[in-house]
Amino acid sequence: MPELLTIEGLSATYTRRGLSPVKALTNVNFSLVPNEIVGVAGESGCGKSTLLKVLSGLLRPPLKIEQGDVALHLKGQRIAVTNAREMSRVRWKNISYIPQSSMSVLNPVVRIGKQFGWVVAAHAHLSRADTDARIRSFVERVGLPERVLRSYPHQLSGGMRQRVVIAMATFLHPQLVLADEPTTGLDVVVQRSVLKLIRTLQREFGMTVLMVSHDMGIHYQVSDRTVVMYAGSVAETAPTEALFKKPLHPYTQRLIASLPRLGDEEKRESITGSPPNLAAPPPGCRFHPRCPAVMEHCKRVDPPLIEVKPRHFVACHLYPEPDSAQPAATPRARA
Ligand SMILES: Nc1ncnc2c1ncn2[C@@H]1O[C@H](COP(=O)(O)OP(=O)(O)OP(=O)(O)O)[C@@H](O)[C@H]1O
Ligand code: SF4
Ligand SMILES: [Mg+2]
Repeated sequence: MPELLTIEGLSATYTRRGLSPVKALTNVNFSLVPNEIVGVAGESGCGKSTLLKVLSGLLRPPLKIEQGDVALHLKGQRIAVTNAREMSRVRWKNISYIPQSSMSVLNPVVRIGKQFGWVVAAHAHLSRADTDARIRSFVERVGLPERVLRSYPHQLSGGMRQRVVIAMATFLHPQLVLADEPTTGLDVVVQRSVLKLIRTLQREFGMTVLMVSHDMGIHYQVSDRTVVMYAGSVAETAPTEALFKKPLHPYTQRLIASLPRLGDEEKRESITGSPPNLAAPPPGCRFHPRCPAVMEHCKRVDPPLIEVKPRHFVACHLYPEPDSAQPAATPRARA
């Protein structure tokens, strides 16, 4: 299948004068193909939002790419995310980004209808009447009453605001939608309906959605594939069903074991210890101070991401590289 987005050896830092750089992403490798929902999971501070910022081309100081290559592949055209001019041409139309808080996308002092119109006017060359009619019908399509178009963002509930942002992000049928925690802060019922909406639109328009959530339960419900991040790197990635059936990385195993289960009264085990400070991460495998299976080797050598089963990649010394003659410093595989 042709790739829609490729991430090769991506490392990015937040660098401020006088402070040690925060290594928010280290040697991240994976790719997206058309028409899939890929979940990005991991604890707070592991680099999920940073990854989406880089992919959307929103590279502002103190965030900068140190190494690697990230590119969109749109109908045979390759666009590097560092190409600000090209990225602004394709934003909303081919790729859209829903940041972590919907309030940060919406201008608080402008009515929703007007903000929606800006997105459309910048990319679709329609008459005013056509634009208004299409926006009204799309708003209805995502389950919102027409009156939201006359409302200010603060007059809407969190769930309605999130639907508005999803509607804006998908109105022009982009090939790729980057959604950062689109359901966080919503109650369970609203959360479920927002996830259902994302899934329905994704199928209807054949889009690819890269969806960040710290909640593994959400990935289990909607993601076709899940990427588990730990301390700025990919720890494991696989089709979601395979990942939940047989997680390989000790971190993924713990994340899944800590999930509450329906009808299960027993207290689930949480992961002991805390994620590392990314301004001074531990050497070797970054998970080693918390890993129950740690070996001496883990404290020195960073495990590469290897494909242990078809489409199932893991970065852990428990799973040796197929060709042990390969030095550990070879570039990681791209999942
Ligand atoms: N503007 C910034 N300046 C400096 N460091 C930052 C900045 N934004 C994020 N970081 C740091 O970069 C690392 C990755 O942060 P990021 O926001 O990407 O994590 P996250 O996985 O999205 O976390 P959360 O689940 O809490 O949203 C963290 O160590 C964080 O403290
Ligand atoms: S490489 Fe070692 S420390 Fe890291 S997860 Fe695997 S076993 Fe644990
Ligand atoms: Mg985040």
